[in-house]
Amino acid sequence: RPGWPGIIQAYQDRIPLPDGARVVTLGEGNTPLLAAPYLSERTGSTVYLKVEGHNPTGSFKDRGMTVAITHALATGLEAVICASTGNTSASASAYAARAGLTSAVLVPRGKIALGKLAQAVAYGARVLQIDGNFDDCLELARKTANEYPIGLVNSVNPVRLIGQKTAAWEVCDVLGRAPDIHCLPVGNAGNITAYWRGYRDYAEDGITTGTPRMFGFQAAGAAPIVRGEPVPNPETIATAIRVGSPASWAGAVAARDESGGLIDAVSDEQILEAYRLLPLREGVFVEPGSAASIAGLLATAADGRLPKGSVVVCTVTGHGLKDPDTALDGLVEVEPVPVDASAVASALDLG
Ligand code: F0G
Repeated sequence: RPGWPGIIQAYQDRIPLPDGARVVTLGEGNTPLLAAPYLSERTGSTVYLKVEGHNPTGSFKDRGMTVAITHALATGLEAVICASTGNTSASASAYAARAGLTSAVLVPRGKIALGKLAQAVAYGARVLQIDGNFDDCLELARKTANEYPIGLVNSVNPVRLIGQKTAAWEVCDVLGRAPDIHCLPVGNAGNITAYWRGYRDYAEDGITTGTPRMFGFQAAGAAPIVRGEPVPNPETIATAIRVGSPASWAGAVAARDESGGLIDAVSDEQILEAYRLLPLREGVFVEPGSAASIAGLLATAADGRLPKGSVVVCTVTGHGLKDPDTALDGLVEVEPVPVDASAVASALDLG
């Protein structure tokens, strides 16, 4: 076979499909598990990054979407709909385009990063901005899919989470074991649910001898699971995880409790610090929502909740290019220099 075939074929024994389904893939999965020397040194642990920005649309959503769109096509649907803080919409519209399906995406007005909007437009989705937050969009998408002939491809569609389990399987396949701790950002809570199920599958089948403790991190202004109640008006710079009432709430609580893990809040300041540090120190540019896992890693290492000497995997969920506005925030002007080597040298203080 020519290279990596995408997650459905790579894990075909573990991903059930309808009879005769045509697999809709863009080659998702097989993302790098990258050693993180700076973070390892700083935390006294062995830290790896699972770099999900390497997926075809730049986020982990592609793992679930290849399965969801393969099912939608096989069951005869002609159109799909999703609510999204941006990445699900980018992914759904790409896989729908590949399958020849129509896609519609409901996004919270003014609260989706520019790159994600550009993707949905490029892939030909009908993009509808809703006067509300993600939770309003999801309720609306559910109602529409219930009442009209259009398939819902949010993670409340159970086949999405089957696809997202593949990230945990890949981590174990590459490490040759399960990590001690797995850190990830939590928004609608599908991903932490899926990772935990994936780790459990491998342990139950005897492929690994243990499971990691799951460490999930919400943004402080959008931390319903930490608070134990929905947040009516979630706010955070990390728009990807600006969710006040996660659909997979129970799955996230199960992942936390069954694994002996935790779900905690990180402030926007902590998220931004991690967001700036990761490209500078590790050469890995991620979006703000993804930096929540790094902010949580640093916070739990600093206060001792993360035991030194652990093998830790942090999922960084989406590519930094998704959100150019946040990356450029605070930059007044790119320094202009004449076409002249001595001017370049003096601008660079080279003497
Ligand atoms: N990181 C990124 C970059 C995301 O886009 C999301 C979710 C998460 C983390 C959280 O994952 O929802 O499974 O807990 N984005 C959704 C979307 C809500 O619409 O794209 P989760």
